[in-house]
Amino acid sequence: MVAKDFDVWKTAHLGVNSPKNKWDRGPQPAKELTRAKFKKLLSDQKKRRDADTYYDLGVFDSKGNLVGFASVMEVVRGISHAAYLGYRIFNSYWRLGYGKEAAKAMIDIAFRDIKVHRLEAGIEPGNIRSIGLAKSLGMRREGLKKRAVFLRGEWVDLTMYTLTSEDLGLKFNTIGVKFKRRR
Ligand SMILES: CC(C)(COP(=O)(O)OP(=O)(O)OC[C@H]1O[C@@H](n2cnc3c(N)ncnc32)[C@H](O)[C@@H]1OP(=O)(O)O)[C@@H](O)C(=O)NCCC(=O)NCCS
Repeated sequence: MVAKDFDVWKTAHLGVNSPKNKWDRGPQPAKELTRAKFKKLLSDQKKRRDADTYYDLGVFDSKGNLVGFASVMEVVRGISHAAYLGYRIFNSYWRLGYGKEAAKAMIDIAFRDIKVHRLEAGIEPGNIRSIGLAKSLGMRREGLKKRAVFLRGEWVDLTMYTLTSEDLGLKFNTIGVKFKRRR
C-alpha cells in the first residue's frame, strides 16, 4: 500500500462485517481510520521491510478495492532463511478465491524476491478455513507446535504447514539476500 491508498483503506475497513469467527476482525470505528494512522502504518511497514524482518502487502481486486492483506513475517536469516506466511481477507470478500490468489502470490514473492528457503503457516487447529487454504496451496502439515504463540491472553498451539524452495522447484541460493552485518 502507498499513500494514495488511504481512501480505499478507510472504505475497506468500514465495510467489514462483524467478526465471523475468533480469528476474524470486525469493522474499525471511523474515528480510528485517520490519515495520520495510515501514514504511521506505511512508515512502520517500510521500516520493517528495510530491516528485512517483515513484508506486508495489500490485496486489491481488479477494481482497486482493498480486500485484505498478505504478509511474510518474522524473517530469520542466519542458517535458516525462514519466515511465516500471513493472510487475512476482509469477511465481506470471503470464499471468492482472494485468499488463495493472494497467498499464492505471496509464496512466489517469498521464495523469488525475499529469498527465504522455508515458509511456514502456523494455524490454530480449529481454524478450518485457514487449514483448507494451506492445504489447497500444497503446504505440508509438519506437526503441532505446542504453546507456540500468545494470543487473546493465552498460549495457543499451532499446526504448522510448510513449503521449502525445493517444493517450487527452486534451488535456494543467497544471491541478493540482505544479510545483517555481524556485530
Ligand atoms: C482464511 C481466509 C484468508 C480464507 O480466505 P478466502 O478468500 O475466503 O479463501 P478462498 O476463497 O481463496 O478459498 C481458498 C481455500 O480455502 C479453503 N476454505 C475457505 N473457506 C473455507 C471453509 N469455510 N471451510 C473449509 N475450507 C475453506 C478452501 O480449501 C478454499 O478452496 P476452494 O474454494 O477451492 O475449496 C479467510 O477466511 C480469513 O481471512 N480468515 C480470518 C483471518 C485468518 O484466519 N487468517 C489466518 C490465520 S492462520
